[in-house]
Amino acid sequence: MTGADRRIGVLVSGRGSNLQALIDAERRGELGGRIAVVLSNVGDAPGLERAQAAGVRALHVPRRGGDRAAYDRELLARLREHDVSWICLAGFMRIVSSVLLDAFPGRILNIHPSLLPSFPGLNAAGQAWDYGVKVSGATVHVVDGGLDTGPIVMQEAVAIDDTHSASEVAARILDVEHRLYPRAVRLMLDGRLRVAGRRVVEVAP
Ligand code: GRF
Repeated sequence: MTGADRRIGVLVSGRGSNLQALIDAERRGELGGRIAVVLSNVGDAPGLERAQAAGVRALHVPRRGGDRAAYDRELLARLREHDVSWICLAGFMRIVSSVLLDAFPGRILNIHPSLLPSFPGLNAAGQAWDYGVKVSGATVHVVDGGLDTGPIVMQEAVAIDDTHSASEVAARILDVEHRLYPRAVRLMLDGRLRVAGRRVVEVAP
C-alpha cells in the first residue's frame, strides 16, 4: 500500500488546530496517508469548517441517545463508508469504546498536551501550570481503553519558567503538538514504528 492509499479518519470536537497541522502535513506530502474524512460529535466545531475549507469531507455525527458503544457504531459506519484504516483523535472529547478499539487495533492515535503519564484528562497544560512543574510537553500515544494511557509513540518536552502564564504554557505546548503529531502519524503509517507491549519501538529497515 502506498502512502496515498492509507486513509485516515480524524475525529474532532472543537478548534481543530491539530487537524489543521495534519492537513498541512498531508499537503506537503509529509503525512504518510490521506485524510479521507473528518467526523465531529459537535455540530459547530471549527474543526469541521477547517476540513471543509481544505476540501476534506466533514461530517457531524450527532449523538442520538444510547450508550457509548451505540455512538461508536455510528462513527464506525461513517469511517467504513470512507474506507478508513487509521484514526487520529485531534481534540476529540470522548472516550472511545471497544467498538472502535476492536475495529482499529493499534491504529487509533491521540495527541495530548502533557508528558504522559503526568496530567491525563482535561486541561492538561493548565494542570501542569497549577502544579508548578518546570517541564511539561506533548505526547502522541496509541489509544487503548483507558484515559490517555496507551503506549507512547513520541514525546517532546517544553520548559516552563516563572515568567510563563498558564496560557503561554498552553500555547507553547500546542506549537510542539503541531510539529509532533504529523511526524508521529507518518512514522506509524509508514510502519517504521510498531507497538510492542507498553512500548512503541523502531522497526529495523
Ligand atoms: C490539544 O491540546 C490536544 O492535545 C488535546 O486537545 C487539544 C485540541 O486542540 N487532545 P485542537 O482542537 O487540535 O486545536
